[in-house]
Order: sequence, then C-alpha cells, then structure tokens
Amino acid sequence: MTDKNSSTFSTSPSGENFPIPAKEDYAKEYQRIETLVAGARSEKKEIVVVMGVGFVGAVMAAIVADTKDEQGNDSKFVIGCQRPSVRSYWKIQVLNRGESPVKAEDPEVDQLITRCVLDKKTLVATYNSDCLKLADCVVVDVQCDFSKNDMGKMKTGEADMAALEATMRIIGKKIKPDCLVLIETTVAPGTTEFVAWPILKKAFAVRGISTQPLLAHSFERVMPGRQYVASIRDFWRVCSGCCNDARKRVEKFLHEVLNTKDFPLTVMDRPIESETTKIVENSYRATILAFLNEWSLFAERNGVDLIKVINAIKMRPTHSNIIFPGPGIGGYCLPKDGGLGYWAYRHILGFEDGDSIFKITTTAIDINDTRALHVAELTRDALRNMGRYIAAAEVLLCGASYRQDVGDTRYSGSEMVVRKLTQMGAEMRVHDPYVDHWYEFEKQDEYPSPGHSWSRFFRNQDELTNLRVLKDLPSALKGIEALILAVPHSQYLNLNPDDVMKWAGNPIAIIDCFGILTDDVIKRYFELGCEVKALGRGHIQSIKEEIRKTAKQ
Ligand SMILES: NC(=O)c1ccc[n+]([C@@H]2O[C@H](COP(=O)([O-])OP(=O)(O)OC[C@H]3O[C@@H](n4cnc5c(N)ncnc54)[C@H](O)[C@@H]3O)[C@@H](O)[C@H]2O)c1
Repeated sequence: MTDKNSSTFSTSPSGENFPIPAKEDYAKEYQRIETLVAGARSEKKEIVVVMGVGFVGAVMAAIVADTKDEQGNDSKFVIGCQRPSVRSYWKIQVLNRGESPVKAEDPEVDQLITRCVLDKKTLVATYNSDCLKLADCVVVDVQCDFSKNDMGKMKTGEADMAALEATMRIIGKKIKPDCLVLIETTVAPGTTEFVAWPILKKAFAVRGISTQPLLAHSFERVMPGRQYVASIRDFWRVCSGCCNDARKRVEKFLHEVLNTKDFPLTVMDRPIESETTKIVENSYRATILAFLNEWSLFAERNGVDLIKVINAIKMRPTHSNIIFPGPGIGGYCLPKDGGLGYWAYRHILGFEDGDSIFKITTTAIDINDTRALHVAELTRDALRNMGRYIAAAEVLLCGASYRQDVGDTRYSGSEMVVRKLTQMGAEMRVHDPYVDHWYEFEKQDEYPSPGHSWSRFFRNQDELTNLRVLKDLPSALKGIEALILAVPHSQYLNLNPDDVMKWAGNPIAIIDCFGILTDDVIKRYFELGCEVKALGRGHIQSIKEEIRKTAKQ
C-alpha cells in the first residue's frame, strides 16, 4: 500500500493526492508539450511560458491564453510551469483539468481557465522546465518573500530571493537568445538589473551566446476578490526594460495581452524605476493605514468615534482615500513590500545609512504588524467588565481573511488575534464563510514554510493545529463568552443583536474591529446586558452610560 503522506505525493487543498512525477516521466512530458507547441506554431501563435502558477501566475497565464489578434484569432499558446514540489505540484494537475488552482470569489477566474484549457486549448501546465526552450516570451510570477525575524521589528528581516534566483538560473540555461523575459514578481528595487540580468548574462556567456538577454519588469497590482481578473487585465500597468529592445518588446507584449486602450500603460526608463513604483505605492498604503493607529487609540480614550471622523474627512475629495485600519494589515503585499525596499537600499544598492533614511515606511510596517495585539487587550477588558476572565473563555473570531469578502488569509490580523488570545489562555473558535482551511494554523509547522509561522512569536500555540473554520454561524456562537468581529464580511454586517444573544445563550462581550456595528446595534447589545468594545470607537462608553441611566430611571 502506498503511504499518501509520503513526500511522493502532492496534496491539493481539497485533499486529492497527486503522485510527484519520477525522473523517467520528464522526457514523455516534454514530448507532450513539444507536440502541442508545434501545433500552436503552425497556427502562428506566440509561445508564452508563465513560471509559477500561484495566486498571480495562474490567472495571468489564463489572461495571456485568452488573447486574440486584430482578426479575432487566438494569438498565444501559454504553458504554465510549476515546480513539482510536494506543496505545489497539484496545481499543474488541477490546471490541466481546466480548474483554477486558486480559490477566487471572482467567477471569471474559473470561467477563463476552463475556456482556455478545455475549449480553446490555449493553456496547459507542466512541471518540466525544458518547456522554456520553446518560449518566445517568459513571464516570471514566482514569489519573492521578505521574512521577518522578530515581531514588530521589520528592520531585522531579510529578503528571500531564492525562488526568483533559481528561476532566473533555469531560464538562463534554457531560453532562446531572442526570448523576452518579463519579471512580474514584486522585487527589491535593483533586482532586475543587478541580480536577475547578471544571472541571465552569465548563463548566456556559458552557452556562448553573444547577444544580451532581453529582460523586462512589470509588476502586478492584482487584488484578490470579486474583480480578480479585471485587476490584472483591466488595470493600469507600469513597465520597463533593461535595454531598448527589451523595453520595446515588453510594451508590445503588454499592449497585446492587457486592456491598455482603457487603462494606459506607463513605460519607465529603467527597471529600478518600475520596481520602486511598486514598493512606494504599497509603502504609501501601509503608511496611511499605520498613521491612523495612533488616532484610533486617541479616539478610544477620548470618547471619539474614528469611523465618523473618517467619514467626515472623506467628504473632501482630496482626502477620499483615507481608510480605517482593521486589526492588522494583511494580504501578501503590504506587510512585506516596504521591507524589500529598505533591504534593497543596503544589500543590493550598497548604502550603509538605511536607518537614518528609512523611518516612516519601517515604522508603519511595525505598527501594522502589531495592531492586532490591541484587539486581544480589548477582548480581555470587555470580559473583565463583565466580571469574567480571558483565561479559559470561549471566544469566537468572525473573519479569518485579511479583507472583506475574500478567502485570502495571508498575514491577516486575525491570525495575530487568535495567537495572542490563545497565549492568554482563551479557547478559540473561528468562523469564516470564505475560508475552508486556515493553513496558517492547521499546518503551522510547515506553512508558509518550516520555521516561518507566526507561532514562533507566541507561547502555547501547539493545539492550534486543531483549529477548524466553522461554517454555521448560529452553532459557532453557541455558548461563547466573547465575539470578535474581525473582518467586515457581508454576512456580519447586519447581524441582529437579539439573534446573536439567542444563539450564544447568554450576554456576551462583542469586539468590533472594523466599525461594523451601528450606534443603534451597539445600544441594543448593551440593553441585552452585553459588553461592547471596538477599535477606534471611544464613543461606545457614552452609549453605555446612556443605557445605564435609562435603566435606573
Ligand atoms: N497575491 C497577490 O495578491 C499579489 C498582488 C500583487 C503582486 N503580487 C506579487 O506577485 C508575485 C507572485 O505572488 P503570488 O501571490 O502569485 O505567489 P504564490 O506563492 O501564490 O505563487 C508563486 C508560485 O511560484 C512557484 N515557484 C516557485 N519557484 C518556482 C520555480 N523555480 N519554477 C516554477 N515555479 C516556481 C511556487 O511554487 C508558487 O506556486 C509576488 O512577487 C507577489 O508579491 C501578489
């Protein structure tokens, strides 16, 4: 009998096991791809290889595969190439069945992938990187991480470019000399010209190729959610090339595959400019979120509702992008991108004065990374006001993902809340309509990679591998003592306090992390004998006092 847990299988999130290919499978797989490419070439299609079919690469590959020329004919044949690792090999098999390897709230993701793989047959996936030999263009969508070594101290972290460097080495060994290589991965500024290009140049030199590699950069602005596909295809792009030829090629390619008619392309002189654009725009976003953390605490301590303050400010068109920071700023990009910039300044660009230059971006990331800890304090205080203790309290956290109405849990503030409260002795339950498995807990020993789980910053985390995401809200609420509304998913916006009380069975503490509760709802919870606390909402105290006064009369 085969051991399904052995490293010879890759298991999909739904639990399906796929045997990892053996050495002898590679030649046959290459023949399969070569035959498909020969067919595509006879139809004058350009051959595009997308390296890495994760959150970005899988959808980008399908968008490219959906491209038509001016006569309305499919003009690209796309090969999604993925390492056959235990963690990721399943993505190839799933894609080749016409299914999306990423779970998305946007119905267009599944439709697009099914159409390109099964109907138009313009998209296939493979584990054999020899497919690079056949490419006219290679799009790189592998990850480039920034690992933090201490909680709330971004400066001690470091960029992890291993996957990107390995990918560039493979590409350099295999591509044709005139193949365009387009890095879409968010990288530390300087990476394209000073890390990736030299790798390609060296590989070309070893192969005796005298021309210079055609390398370009154009970062992704994809937003997981209902507009997933549109956020790649129908969105403004920035690009650049390491040389004039690469710049011309990348412009042409992006005009062909994206909707640049409605969303014009910005072409920059050098890759370091487009790389910096990505890092600065995400650092800007991280900074405006972190900036409100201090005003959120000010509001809590001085009877002010920050939600109303923000809504009042937003009336000014010049300030309309001010946003309330929830319990931490998750998603894959905002917590790491500023770190890549800070790190690059020293380690790629060679400056020693990073600490005197970088103050705001680094502080912003540290504030965002630790804001969630305050939610645990509010939960403790709310329970204390009811004469209860956090230790052994049954606490339900509603919302595991990092933003509303998506299932992406990467670096969500909710994870920090669960970890901190667990350390304080609470018994945690979790509900989320969009998340089936919260791998940051279920697989905390190996996810996001061994030794990188946030569990290492807290005590008493072992049992959290048993945390399962509950789907039925009424039964999830049964018998709880505290409810944390961590994410404004639609399902949580109009909860009726009387229903919540009925399902819970007793008055509970409610902690609102995102300005979800209206004043009338807060009032009703107090009338029912509940306690309410919220991030940035100091006016709750006066609602409570008003109810108490009325009750005494
Ligand atoms: N996810 C987002 O919301 C988002 C938004 C904007 C930009 N980005 C950027 O896009 C890039 C990719 O992010 P993602 O979310 O798709 O990451 P991901 O981890 O989902 O996908 C990366 C994929 O690359 C594969 N890979 C790694 N090394 C490889 C190799 N040598 N050959 C082939 N495949 C390899 C991995 O197995 C994985 O499947 C990152 O730089 C990220 O910052 C992501």
